[in-house]
Amino acid sequence: LKKKESITVFGLGKVGSAIVSVSLEKKYQVYGFDTDELVKSKFKNGDFETQEPFVTNTIEKFRNNFKIIEDTCTAINNSLLSIIIVPTPSTTNGDFDSTHVEEAVTQIIAALNCKDFKKINENKNFSHSIIVASTVSPETMRKKIYPILKNLKTELLNKVELVYSPEFIALGSVVKNLKSPEFILLGHCGKGVSNKLLKYKKKINENKAEIHLASYESAEIAKISVNTFLTTKISYANMISELIYETKNSNQAEVFRILKSDSRIGKKFFNPGLGYGGPCLPRDNRALIAFSKTKKLNSPIASSTDEMNNKRPSSVARQINSFLIDKKTILILGVTYKSGTNSVEESHAAKVIECLNINPENIIIHDFNHDFSSKKIWEKYKTINGEIPEPKFDGIICLIDDTRYINYLQKHKIINVFKAYDLSI
Ligand SMILES: NC(=O)c1ccc[n+]([C@@H]2O[C@H](COP(=O)([O-])OP(=O)(O)OC[C@H]3O[C@@H](n4cnc5c(N)ncnc54)[C@H](O)[C@@H]3O)[C@@H](O)[C@H]2O)c1
Repeated sequence: LKKKESITVFGLGKVGSAIVSVSLEKKYQVYGFDTDELVKSKFKNGDFETQEPFVTNTIEKFRNNFKIIEDTCTAINNSLLSIIIVPTPSTTNGDFDSTHVEEAVTQIIAALNCKDFKKINENKNFSHSIIVASTVSPETMRKKIYPILKNLKTELLNKVELVYSPEFIALGSVVKNLKSPEFILLGHCGKGVSNKLLKYKKKINENKAEIHLASYESAEIAKISVNTFLTTKISYANMISELIYETKNSNQAEVFRILKSDSRIGKKFFNPGLGYGGPCLPRDNRALIAFSKTKKLNSPIASSTDEMNNKRPSSVARQINSFLIDKKTILILGVTYKSGTNSVEESHAAKVIECLNINPENIIIHDFNHDFSSKKIWEKYKTINGEIPEPKFDGIICLIDDTRYINYLQKHKIINVFKAYDLSI
């Protein structure tokens, strides 16, 4: 692999594998590193598979330009930049644990330090950008990550930059979101960012998204504030939805048509539904609450948003249960936290099912993507992947917004259905 076109990706999980795929597509040569031997061997053996659209095929197509590495020293020293996209799990306080990011940065610094100094001096243009793409809590970059750079050999101190560039992606559309984000966020220590890094970001980007340069802290706060604002809109829509449900002659479709016509409110992220779930939105909201506490501030809007979201599955289940009174067998469509993913992490659909007043033996659950055998919670139900069963049930409840379900419901002219995003039908 040639240095001028190479990058190294640390963490080859759900987001990392997609970063590899878009970088390969844009003709970069990519080195990949992961601490999990199983993950590495899957890539090495060509067994890697993900449900994320485009990723598996693209990696397969460009596999000659992708190398799984054990020796980070050679890879880093041949790369323009390294991207860290490792887990930052939420702690019990709600903030993000940055241990894996710190480990990866330490490893990169060690790899840079093993560079042959003579070569550095010969190559005056040598530089390396370390991009932290994992989401971190505010003040992590300057307080915990940046100090690791002091371990760099003196000769390298001015040749290495550390930038925070979190990704705004949702599972099921990661590639699309990486290529066409709302904006690109680059948090820096105060010295700006290199042209080489800007060039890489612009090459990946296909929608000429605005590039925001900001301090580490501004970027860190902006990242979780964006998601917290989106969750606020969702919880607000659900709050209004519950009001409509209790109010005779009011209608969800009508009220939301009116609200969405106001450009100040906007149409996006403003549908009543089951609430938000998954590995990103709920925890970014909680991270903002946790960070506010470190400043001795309450964040009542974020807290209420979280509270509204947490009670949403039981509210929806109560509405569904009133419809189930005379029903024996029911079919549930969809259990993942959103369509296009196999994840049930913080899935409200899964929570709703647990609250239904119907014997689990009489509940048949269908999902296109979720592997039911991976979780014990499904053992008491009959579960199906693949084709949607014939509609021979007393009730059918659709819990995710997937066009295949909508087509099925329309085809069979089923009207007694609770669609998570429109309970008025
Ligand atoms: N999944 C999402 O929807 C989403 C959305 C936005 C942001 N993010 C952020 O992206 C980051 C990664 O998320 P993900 O969903 O891809 O996680 P993931 O768990 O799917 O993958 C992370 C990978 O990193 C590997 N890893 C752990 N420590 C490592 C190290 N020191 N060096 C190299 N590899 C290491 C793990 O083995 C794993 O394969 C997180 O910070 C998350 O907050 C995720």
